[in-house]
Amino acid sequence: MSTARIDIHLTDDDAEKALRADVRRGLGATPKQLPPKWFYDARGSALFEMITELPEYYPTRTERALLERSVAEIAALSGADTIVELGSGSSAKTRLLLDAFVTAGTLRRYVPQDVSESALRQAMDALAAEYPQVELHGVVGDFTRHLHLLPGGGRRMVAFLGGTIGNLVPAEQAEFLADVRSVLAPGEQLLLGTGLVIDEEPLVSAYDDAAGITAEFNRNVLHVINRELGADFDVESFAHVAVWDRVDEWIEMRLRAERAMRVRIAELDMEVEFAEGEELLTEISAKFHVEGVHTILERAGFAVTRTWSDPEERFALTLATAS
Ligand code: AVJ
Repeated sequence: MSTARIDIHLTDDDAEKALRADVRRGLGATPKQLPPKWFYDARGSALFEMITELPEYYPTRTERALLERSVAEIAALSGADTIVELGSGSSAKTRLLLDAFVTAGTLRRYVPQDVSESALRQAMDALAAEYPQVELHGVVGDFTRHLHLLPGGGRRMVAFLGGTIGNLVPAEQAEFLADVRSVLAPGEQLLLGTGLVIDEEPLVSAYDDAAGITAEFNRNVLHVINRELGADFDVESFAHVAVWDRVDEWIEMRLRAERAMRVRIAELDMEVEFAEGEELLTEISAKFHVEGVHTILERAGFAVTRTWSDPEERFALTLATAS
């Protein structure tokens, strides 16, 4: 018999308040910036799913192939009875993990966490039918704010896949990893997916595809602000820009105003001026070296158990144990 529950730590109202605060702060700043989490309304999530299938966007398929090759070893080394997946979405990778831990005979519980209640419910309904022997305990929350509310008990492995830690600047990465460590008992684990530093050309192409899907995904944040906050962004007057910052070793996605514009954001009673050519930073996607991943994990109080990477060293999966 399957059992399922969902804890809700984030309501639509909280999200609306957070969006207002982020837009007010980010568009009032110099240079202007917005956090990437606001890309993901229904349209943005669908565009991201399309991105993961683009020929240029290698991270998702690379991580999936890596997981396919390594998941039996991960399950054997881990022995966890609970998998907590941060930012679970509708991930196909989840099934690879669950299958391996079921086969290893240790899995009792799966705890998916996501900001979207509807995405979480949809994923859990499907999983309840496929994994009747696994207890499901969903958590609607923000992984930068609600880690301390994750269900405890058992022997947990927290999975944070996709390379999403790269959306954080190094100080935020350190804070996030310390937070994860602080909610774990010694011996519990973290499985972390990280994009690795590769040549500039394929890296930039992954964030600036020929079909223009990433451009649409990037501009989608302006559609979200228009709809949610009554703004009047002329979305098509912003050009998608993807650049590799070789010093910080991250991709920056920006939106460049193709002409001077004044934007009104009715619900914030705010007017924002853009000069022609002015750029708004919408996302960083940091890439790592394997040694760098080990360093940030160790500084946060983890011991590295093992790292797996693909033959071209484009992506890494690291299993770390709370020490
Ligand atoms: C979901 C954060 C891992 O940084 O590669 C894809 C998001 N942005 N294309 C990434 C994204 C542009 C993606 N993450």
